[in-house]
Amino acid sequence: MKPGKMPKAVRLTAYGGIDQLHIVDVAMPEPKRNEVVVRVVSSGTNPGEIAIREGHLKEMFPMDFPFGQGTDFAGRISSVGSGVTTFAIGDEVLGWSEQRSAQAEYVVSEASHLVAKPPSLDWFRAGSLFVVATTAVAAVRAVSAKAGDVVAISGAAGGVGSLAVQLARRAGARVIGMASDDNAAFLASVGVEHVAYGDGLERRLRAVAPEGIDAFIDLFGGGYVDLAVKLGVSTERIDTIIDFAAAEKHGVKTDGSAQAASPATLADVANLIAWGEIVMPLTAIYPFSLLHDAYAELARRKTRGKIVLAFEESVKVRIGATSM
Ligand SMILES: NC(=O)c1ccc[n+]([C@@H]2O[C@H](COP(=O)([O-])OP(=O)(O)OC[C@H]3O[C@@H](n4cnc5c(N)ncnc54)[C@H](OP(=O)(O)O)[C@@H]3O)[C@@H](O)[C@H]2O)c1
Repeated sequence: MKPGKMPKAVRLTAYGGIDQLHIVDVAMPEPKRNEVVVRVVSSGTNPGEIAIREGHLKEMFPMDFPFGQGTDFAGRISSVGSGVTTFAIGDEVLGWSEQRSAQAEYVVSEASHLVAKPPSLDWFRAGSLFVVATTAVAAVRAVSAKAGDVVAISGAAGGVGSLAVQLARRAGARVIGMASDDNAAFLASVGVEHVAYGDGLERRLRAVAPEGIDAFIDLFGGGYVDLAVKLGVSTERIDTIIDFAAAEKHGVKTDGSAQAASPATLADVANLIAWGEIVMPLTAIYPFSLLHDAYAELARRKTRGKIVLAFEESVKVRIGATSM
């Protein structure tokens, strides 16, 4: 950063639409004990941020304005606080911000919320991994997916879904992924049977799984939990990460990111992607300056994999449907 220039960060000053997202100059963060400051290279966008910004989760995530945004990030360590022995200046890392301040040129983080970036994991997947990786791991674990099972997953091609379907496959299950026809080829490429959502879904699911569905992971909400119960899936083997009203009604599980949030989980999934064991599609990479466009695209809920923000001018950025 040039002398005299202040780093930029997202700040929200009120609940509301995309116009409440402001990119402002902020003071350079200073690491306290056991903390580091990371020069961010990339940061993920997550639909939950839209719900928080619009004020739908005021009770769960209260905000004292002005507030930052963003959980996932990857970058290079630029300063280190006292007590940190695991990382040094210049190390390439990925991690998460519990203060929701990852969408910034510099983020302060607990050293314990970071892992080393595998050299063969690109910056964009690294910087958008934490929320979806931990959520996918928690959801697949919650339903105890195993060899011989038929597991149905809604939102199968989204950020969480594209990883969850592959983790359930790796557990040995036969996986049915509910998605639009646009994602049929992607799902087939990772060994997942595509079933289109919409009218007649129950009939189509019964037709592809005449012996029944053993476990159901709902990553989209809006009736999938009711459907799973109707299909006879046992409530201990249904997990929703979004439909908390239906979960309360039927007594199904709600395991999500919090149930698997750890550096070990993050490192495991990062390595699976780095080694090519699973794939992580990206729909688009936006420069930080086009933050508003990134959130407008995310709000359409047609993302395959992730939409990522890029922070370094030197990073080559592809805008649009990259579908890598
Ligand atoms: N509890 C937690 O810890 C936790 C953590 C992360 C996320 N979440 C929540 O979980 C949800 C999923 O997150 P995400 O990041 O995976 O979202 P996302 O990437 O935005 O999901 C996009 C996907 O939704 C699919 N979709 C759109 N309409 C659908 C429908 N009617 N039925 C089934 N799928 C449909 C799209 O598939 P097509 O393009 O094929 O239509 C697209 O691939 C969000 O609501 C998020 O807020 C909760």
